[in-house]
Amino acid sequence: MAGPSKTPYYVTTPIYYVNDVPHIGHAYTTLACDALARFMRLDGHPVKFLTGTDEHGQKVAKSAGAADMDPQAFTDKVSQNFRALAEAWQITNDDFIRTTEARHVRSCQAIWRKLVENGDLYLGSYGGWYAVDDEAFYGENELSEESASGKKIAPSGATVEWVEEPSYFFRLSAWQERLLELYERNPGFILPESRRNEVLSFVRGGLKDLSVSRTTFDWGVPVPDDPEHVMYVWLDALTNYITAAGYPEEGSEDFTTFWPASLHMVGKDILRFHAVYWPAFLMSAGVAPPKRVFAHGWWTSEGQKISKRLGNVIDPMEIVERYGLDQVRYFLLREVPFGNDGDFSHKAMVGRMNNDLANDFGNLAQRVLSMINKNCGAALPEPGPRTPADEALLGAAQGLLAGLREDYGGQQFHAALIRTWELVGAANRYVDEQAPWALRKSDPARMATVLYLLAECIRHLAIVTQPVMPTACGKILDQLGVPADRRDFAALAEPLAPGTALPKPEGVFPRYVEEAAAEAS
Ligand code: MSP
Repeated sequence: MAGPSKTPYYVTTPIYYVNDVPHIGHAYTTLACDALARFMRLDGHPVKFLTGTDEHGQKVAKSAGAADMDPQAFTDKVSQNFRALAEAWQITNDDFIRTTEARHVRSCQAIWRKLVENGDLYLGSYGGWYAVDDEAFYGENELSEESASGKKIAPSGATVEWVEEPSYFFRLSAWQERLLELYERNPGFILPESRRNEVLSFVRGGLKDLSVSRTTFDWGVPVPDDPEHVMYVWLDALTNYITAAGYPEEGSEDFTTFWPASLHMVGKDILRFHAVYWPAFLMSAGVAPPKRVFAHGWWTSEGQKISKRLGNVIDPMEIVERYGLDQVRYFLLREVPFGNDGDFSHKAMVGRMNNDLANDFGNLAQRVLSMINKNCGAALPEPGPRTPADEALLGAAQGLLAGLREDYGGQQFHAALIRTWELVGAANRYVDEQAPWALRKSDPARMATVLYLLAECIRHLAIVTQPVMPTACGKILDQLGVPADRRDFAALAEPLAPGTALPKPEGVFPRYVEEAAAEAS
């Protein structure tokens, strides 16, 4: 019986600058969105999951120049690296947008015209500081001076340069009150709370009009009716989120289904663009703002800021090769309360891999499946009457999803995994207490019940952990004989069928052994 249709879920990653190869930061944001998209799909929501590349602007044009390539050829090439990353990390995006695509240029020009119609754009002249690395304008009061070179530096660490050119301005100053109202009415619009407060005080401090076009280079979307100007790359980039939903066709099925987006996931460094400028642009264009912007923290590497200069950039392809994809996915989402900064260290990674995965979940699955294989004729046993301990374990398994919906609903991936591992722990304790190996001769019927309930508990664990570790959980479900079309959350209510023949069990969470790794390299 089909239930009532569930709210559509539209989740987006930032679109990545194609000036460089992907690093751990890109992989992290995309992974978090992937876990959410998978969770929502398994929970029966229509999902749209978007990622892509940000290809215009001075920063990309500069990198193309440095590579001695035409910007379009350069972006064609580098954009591929981001598609390759998504593939290697088993990212389930439904669309991949590039800002150089015709659909996007059209959408940018359409939103520009709306801003003009609404009286929010005017021609002026900009004189001020610009950081190409951030593609952002800074006020004098935000800058510091590097003592050795005397260069002015933005709070992000990027060098700024003085620019002076004719420019269109967006009347951001006029949107202060309406933005504050938006935040006020929608307390979950900006998460986490601490970031929300930062944005509130920034907006309360007063907003200046924003320069939204440039004339000193041409790698961008031409401003309608004034081709001397290209659109400011952030206005262009942010618009990707509506382009992919079909804008300017606001009446299209895609747009009416998926806009406003459920969530823009971003790093903390680009929150202001998403939580201040973007909703102001949208409201001015008569388009509803997104429902939420979540700003996550940054990773360091072995305790140090990640930078090319320090040579400690973490290559997302390399760590997956080294530790395994599911292991890395688990680590990144488990290690840090989502929203906080975190540290990627070999020791912490191996700790999670060997303790949480190999010892806890892996061992649970392996020992239960081996006992069924050896003692129950390699078929799911028939359960008998249940004891209070059995009911408690089963109840915990059946109650898990409700908590996970809250955790995922608030983007608290670490909390979801902690909650899930509480059940892993309970199941392991239950194995020890019930000692099914000792029942083989004395009470085979009871052994059958215990092993069946454990298998059922592992089924729940594997189904709900698929968003984080799709391959390993898939293998566990294969070993439990769960058909491919019985792995969504609705199927949690359909218990395993006793008598189902099971394949020979195999461990799915290998331990990371330092010596072996050293020998192998
Ligand atoms: N192109 C803009 C986004 C436009 S969205 C309309 C951009 N691109 S980026 O490639 O520089 O950044 C991508 C993301 O990577 C940002 O969300 C940023 O926070 C994230 N990270 C960059 N370094 C990071 C870490 N060390 N750790 C975690 N995330 C990091 O900004």
